[in-house]
Amino acid sequence: MDGNGRWAKARHLPRAAGHRKGMEAVRAVVRAAGDLGVEYLTLFGFSSENWKRPEDEVKDLMGLLRIYLRRDARDLHEQGVRLRIIGDRARLAPDIQAQLDEVEALTADNTALTLMIALSYGGRDELVQVARALAADVAAGKIAPEAIDEAAFSARLFTHGIPDPDLLIRTSGEQRISNFLLWQMAYTEFVFVETLWPDFDRESLSAALDVYARRERRYGAVVA
Ligand code: IPE
Ligand code: MG
Repeated sequence: MDGNGRWAKARHLPRAAGHRKGMEAVRAVVRAAGDLGVEYLTLFGFSSENWKRPEDEVKDLMGLLRIYLRRDARDLHEQGVRLRIIGDRARLAPDIQAQLDEVEALTADNTALTLMIALSYGGRDELVQVARALAADVAAGKIAPEAIDEAAFSARLFTHGIPDPDLLIRTSGEQRISNFLLWQMAYTEFVFVETLWPDFDRESLSAALDVYARRERRYGAVVA
C-alpha cells in the first residue's frame, strides 16, 4: 500500500492525513475483495524497514492501527473475514499485540475472506526465521537435513497453510518487491498501477483483477 505520503503532499496536507485516507481505502478494498470473490488478501501495512521513519510518523501509523482494530473488528467479523497477522509482532507495542490476538481469535473460524496484514514484516527476515527453525529442529534431532524440502520450508513460514499469492498489486508507480513475500511470490503475477494507495478503490481492484485474468500462467512449462 504505497503512495499515502505523495497523496497528502499533493494536497498540501501532513503525511498523517494520507495515512488516514489510506486506512479508509483499506476498508473499501477489504469489502470489495470479499464481494469480488477474492479468498485471500494480504496487505503490506508496515515493513521491517518502516521502523526507520521519523518517530512521529511511526507513532501516527501505530495510532491508526489501534483505531482500525478497535473500530473495524466487529465489521470484519460480520463480513466473515478471518484476520491473520504476519511479521515480527514482538516489535509491536504490547497493547497492539493484545488487540491483534483478540481480533485473530474473534475471527479465527470465519471463511469468506482471509485478510493477512503484514506488520513489521520483512521477507528476508521471514526466511531467516525459517532457517533458524529448521536448524533448531535438525540440532534437536527432529528432522534430518535430507528431509528439508520445499514443503518443510513452507510449513515454517508466517504464511503456512495459505496458498501463494496469484497476484501482486503495487500502487503509486513504484516497480519493486520491497522485501515482500519473497519465497511466496515465485510465480506471482505482478500488476503495477500509478494510483496512489488512498485513491485505490473497488474499481481499481476490479481493473487489476481483469488484467490478471488476461495473463497466461505457464509456471515454466510450454502451453500449446
Ligand atoms: C504508505 O505510503 C506506506 C506505509 C508505510 C503505510 P508511504 O508512506 O510510503 O507514501 P509515499 O511513498 O511517501 O508516497
Ligand atoms: Mg512509499
